[in-house]
Amino acid sequence: GTANIGVVGLAVMGANLARNLASREGNTVAVYNRSPERTRTLLAEHPEAGFVPAYSVEEFAASLARPRTAIIMVQAGAATDAMIDALVEVFEPGDIIVDGGNAYFPDTIRRERAVRETGINFVGAGISGGEEGALKGPSIMPGGSDEAWQTLGPILRSIAAVAEGEPCVTHIGHDGAGHFVKMVHNGIEYADMQLIAEAYDLIRRGTGMSPAEIAEVFAEWNRGELESYLIEITAEVLRQEDAASGGPLVDVILDQAGAKGTGAWTVQTALSLGVPASGIAEATFARSLSSHPEQRAAAAGLPGPAVAPALADPAAFIEDVRQALYASKIVAYSQGFDVIRAGAAEHGWSIDLGAVSRIWRAGCIIRAQFLNRIAEAYAAEPGLPLLLSAPYFAEALGRGQAAWRRVVAHATGAGIPAPAFASSLAYYDGLRAERLPAALVQGQRDFFGAHSYRRVDRPGSFHTLWSGDRSEVEV
Ligand code: 6PG
Repeated sequence: GTANIGVVGLAVMGANLARNLASREGNTVAVYNRSPERTRTLLAEHPEAGFVPAYSVEEFAASLARPRTAIIMVQAGAATDAMIDALVEVFEPGDIIVDGGNAYFPDTIRRERAVRETGINFVGAGISGGEEGALKGPSIMPGGSDEAWQTLGPILRSIAAVAEGEPCVTHIGHDGAGHFVKMVHNGIEYADMQLIAEAYDLIRRGTGMSPAEIAEVFAEWNRGELESYLIEITAEVLRQEDAASGGPLVDVILDQAGAKGTGAWTVQTALSLGVPASGIAEATFARSLSSHPEQRAAAAGLPGPAVAPALADPAAFIEDVRQALYASKIVAYSQGFDVIRAGAAEHGWSIDLGAVSRIWRAGCIIRAQFLNRIAEAYAAEPGLPLLLSAPYFAEALGRGQAAWRRVVAHATGAGIPAPAFASSLAYYDGLRAERLPAALVQGQRDFFGAHSYRRVDRPGSFHTLWSGDRSEVEV
């Protein structure tokens, strides 16, 4: 074989990744798709790429130099399993199969274990950046063995996005670590998007500004500490006019948000790890709520506030929303990194959180200046227990909290749903509280289930004889 890398699955993501690989010095790319039509189209449209086409898995294996390295870009789930099985049949020990789709990380752990039995390396790699990222430089989050990384590292480094001179790829950890981190990336993406959407809604309903006018607000924000790809595209979407109605496009898009699963996986994972990723959860649930038209119709007549609070100073309110957005964003990222920290501990991965923040600075959907602040926080204190407690973030939260409270109060008073803003603030207040009513919950648990409690003034576990003389015993 003459190709040093192969791509299997030539839908948009796979085709773009193959073209990206082919455009880099020293790469010869073998391509294979289950239906040959796609392969022929790609070859016809991109003669410059010098692709080596294959029309069967056998031919594909034969076209690759050893150790064979192939990236699978097919639908997560059954299609991925089928393609892995087919490649395992024709590959040999030492070869490398990479799954570049959005696989659920327990699947990746399972697949890695099964493929390893054959002596073939299996690497689950999260790839972020959408179609354009795949073509011009994505952020890549590979898991898998150190041995596979030896071969794969240089290839992935050559196609990744570059942030301040550093390629946006790092070996995240073994087996499913890469897909785990990609999953959390998407969870943070959900929170970031929901927070921006809430900011837009609050400004629109609070000030009556048009989407095009609010686009200018976001464009302005994009020149400050909120600078990010998601803020940038938000301005573009809000500016867009609809040809059919002549009005803003956003007003004719059905307000039911879709989801392909990664946000829900992040929340499920956080729940089972006992990590309070409440902002990510609210963002995921907000999509669910939007997508139940029958329930929304049934609730449409329920009363809201009798009098809507008037905004004395719209410009000041917009600045408050900006600060609330920044504070809530800090919470979302802090929670996301907390999920990664806990997941790494649970699965025995040694994940460098600073390195994760650095490979998210370019190429991926959540790319932002902000990731530099996170990188700095972990550089200063690699064992940081909670991101938002780092001096820079603690200071920013302290600076923004008054505005944050005004925005949540306004939303509540006006009957505007702002679940991600509100839950992020509640998380912040929960963490900083000196005493929590968790003490009462412990009392209740002890009352009905003798679950026992600990005391603040001495060690040990205690139970109150609630149905007896209510004296306390040590248990
Ligand atoms: C990325 C995106 C990508 C994809 C999501 C969208 O990092 O490039 O996250 O993976 O756009 O699957 O997810 P939803 O369809 O669930 O919004």
